[in-house]
Amino acid sequence: MAPKRQFLPLLLLLSLSAFFLYSHYHSSLHLYLSSHSLNPNPHLNLPSNLNPSLNSIPSPSNFSFILKVLTFDRLSSLSRCLRSLAAAHYGRDTVHLHIYVDHFPHADNVGKSELLLDQKLDESRRILEFIDGFDWKFGQKVVHYRTGNVGLQAQWLEAWWPSSDHEFAFVVEDDLEVSPLYYKFLKALIQNYYYNSSNFSPSIYGASLQRPRFVPGKHGNKIQLDDETHIFLYQLVGTWGQLLFPKPWKEFRLWYDIHKAKGIKPFLQGMVTTGWYKKMGERIWTPWFISFIHSRGYFNIYTNFLHERALSVSHRDAGVNYGKTAGPDSYLLDESSLDIDLLEMQPLTKLKWYDFCFKEVHPGTVVRSFEELGSVLHSVQKQDTIILVSLFGASERVIRNLLCHFESFNIQNYIFMGLNSDFLLDLARRGHPVIDVDQFLSSVRAHKMKSLQDSDMEVKKYILVKAYVIQKCLESGYNSWVVDGNMLFLRSTPFLDVIDATYDFHAGKTPEILFIRSSSSARKIWVDDFIHKVALMVDSVLEKGRGRIPTTEGKKFVYIVGELFKQEGMRVKWVDEGSLGLEIDSRNANQTSQGNRKKMVFWSPEIGSDMIQKRLEELGLWIIDTDSSCTAVVCHQS
Ligand SMILES: *[C@@H]1O[C@H](CO)[C@@H](O)[C@H](O)[C@H]1NC(C)=O
Ligand SMILES: *[C@@H]1O[C@H](CO)[C@@H](O)[C@H](O)[C@H]1NC(C)=O
Ligand SMILES: *[C@@H]1O[C@H](CO)[C@@H](O)[C@H](O)[C@H]1NC(C)=O
Repeated sequence: MAPKRQFLPLLLLLSLSAFFLYSHYHSSLHLYLSSHSLNPNPHLNLPSNLNPSLNSIPSPSNFSFILKVLTFDRLSSLSRCLRSLAAAHYGRDTVHLHIYVDHFPHADNVGKSELLLDQKLDESRRILEFIDGFDWKFGQKVVHYRTGNVGLQAQWLEAWWPSSDHEFAFVVEDDLEVSPLYYKFLKALIQNYYYNSSNFSPSIYGASLQRPRFVPGKHGNKIQLDDETHIFLYQLVGTWGQLLFPKPWKEFRLWYDIHKAKGIKPFLQGMVTTGWYKKMGERIWTPWFISFIHSRGYFNIYTNFLHERALSVSHRDAGVNYGKTAGPDSYLLDESSLDIDLLEMQPLTKLKWYDFCFKEVHPGTVVRSFEELGSVLHSVQKQDTIILVSLFGASERVIRNLLCHFESFNIQNYIFMGLNSDFLLDLARRGHPVIDVDQFLSSVRAHKMKSLQDSDMEVKKYILVKAYVIQKCLESGYNSWVVDGNMLFLRSTPFLDVIDATYDFHAGKTPEILFIRSSSSARKIWVDDFIHKVALMVDSVLEKGRGRIPTTEGKKFVYIVGELFKQEGMRVKWVDEGSLGLEIDSRNANQTSQGNRKKMVFWSPEIGSDMIQKRLEELGLWIIDTDSSCTAVVCHQS
């Protein structure tokens, strides 16, 4: 019983620091995310002033707002659209109007009658006359009349190159009609979600005013929101009234250039929009933007004003998108029907985030203390089980590939642990829960960290955090799997059949795996005193034990706890590698068929990331693209 008293101060310290850290957690989260440069794609070496990092919070100042109206040959649509824009409330603000008039295709006219040609020329002239006569009181009116037909893709993409980080574009196709309230709403939104640093997120690329109805991920969820949700985040771009933020738009244009130049198509399996692209090709632009947003993990702001209402509606007139006129998609929300506080902007922390499958995601989950861990484990666990994945020794691309496999097998009960890095924070920004090893340890630091070599210190930190996470899992009644990133699960429950119900502990040395069943006996063993012994064992192995045992082996968590289990006479079921899966190495021949029947594949990181990628490609298990993002979106009903 003596050890208990000895650890009382630790508990006190623990709860004090937890309280302190907790009160800092929510407020620091977004600051934290935005104050670190995010480098979602190490392969795009953009000039630093155009870096995709979006890392600084814009400072409040006057911003400029430009309307980008895209039109072609629909005069009555255009006049309805411009009238609605001119009828909106702009207060004293300056709002510029830029109109892009596409030209009819010359190629279509070969062999056509003179009469038809004259009709088309006349149509164009009447549109220009209408635009010239249209009075715009709120700012400059600029008209761009094209010489040839460029289509919707170039109309959108060439409509804007932001001249500063304080310039916003609202893109409007000519069959739209906007509410007189639309500008007031967008202005409040820019002030709150772009210029208020506590509500700013580098993941947000703009806002759509159309009523959300479409889920592009095949077999995705239906869009369902409660009546209190007026603003939420959703990855999909809206083309009926889309506000664009300057930095992500520039980033997109550069991404598009690179992909266009290198002949990389915006194919994303599992997305309805990829089918559109295959059919419509370069006539539309959305598959490009969607693919970009997918690779960056960005989000759009949407509104939910109930009763099929929105601030922008499409009349879906016949044109590129509709063969026949389909009629308005929603009801316009205007003053006469206003029954909600339009300008009430909820704090970002209160908003919900949805991916392309309309599955809710939770960006920004960074665990920095033992106490925070509890609620995160609770929200992550499935069937009372947690998979703790260590980032130690695994490359970024290997981990991103692992995440695609998690998505395809619907594995959601994982949490990553790693040293603070851009990569760790980027994982969190994209909605994958992470534990910041250093900050976590400082919240529970009970042991003087002996001065070890840097590399040994890192080993020790990872081992201790694993021990604490297991303790928290046991306290919370959860089973835990502790694994590293150098493996892939090829089923949703790869371990079930190796588990022997009469054991609390299962361990495997290659690959390194530890399974701890949530049981009262395990809970009794895995207490602070046990973790203290883990720490002592690590020190002795790392310091004194050098040469006595193979170094790499001795630095492993499973080795350390294995030795302790032996000392304490505990029963451990050792799982041999053959029953787990296939080890790949540099000598492997083509083992496609064999590999796919296995429960998992694993490898030693020492064989190098190029070799790992090559082998996984041969096995059909390398499922990320040149942007390091998944080649497919896989939806699961939730
Ligand atoms: C913002 O614009 C107003 C009116 O045009 C001007 O008086 C003010 O000085 C501007 N503020 C900044 C910070 O540019
Ligand atoms: C910024 O947002 C926070 C949280 O929503 C809010 O409490 C604060 O009043 C806002 N600041 C300004 C200047 O609007
Ligand atoms: C492996 O085998 C499969 C099927 O037999 C074949 O399609 C593939 O090209 C082979 N890969 C290599 C690298 O030999």
